[in-house]
Amino acid sequence: MTFTRILGTFALGAALAFPALADENPAVAARQGQFQLFVHNFGALGGMVQGRMEYDAALAQTAADNLFHVTRHDQSRLWPDGTDSMSIDGTRAKPEIWDNLDDFVTKFVALQQAAENLQAVAGDGLDAMRAAFGPTAGACQACHQVYREEAG
Ligand code: HEC
Repeated sequence: MTFTRILGTFALGAALAFPALADENPAVAARQGQFQLFVHNFGALGGMVQGRMEYDAALAQTAADNLFHVTRHDQSRLWPDGTDSMSIDGTRAKPEIWDNLDDFVTKFVALQQAAENLQAVAGDGLDAMRAAFGPTAGACQACHQVYREEAG
């Protein structure tokens, strides 16, 4: 094998390796972890709303408290430029986020408000919790519809 061919092989190997490194972007991992904490807590409430789990006031309150607090995590270092789904692998964050940051933040603030309303009533019985659950689910979906790529 000539020296040039060895170099060429190395360059190809490097090109294949770099997308895997992009997957390990710490800001992307952190924001996905944040969303996993959302769903870990919100999912328990959803289970109660859908009757898959019995309503438990203490658990509902804890889950809503957790959701409230995670939605207060400062977002400013979680969405650096160049971490959209067109630029790197391993993220479902659409480039449109960075073109419409004001709207994206507005949608995040809407979730914070919905989570606050949910926290206020989550321990007050299934009906009260369900009434505040719907708008919170709506706040998740309103953002995903516009700014998150489909799975897969
Ligand atoms: C303001 C926008 C916005 C709101 C509000 C929002 N999400 Fe997301 N969500 C996103 C984006 C963007 C991604 C893709 C992040 C990535 O892959 O880098 C995402 C990803 C996720 C993921 C996948 C995480 C992973 O491991 O890849 C889950 C689960 C999720 N969101 C759940 C929720 C739930 C539950 C709520 C409401 C309680 C919510 N999200 C509210 C924008 C939002």
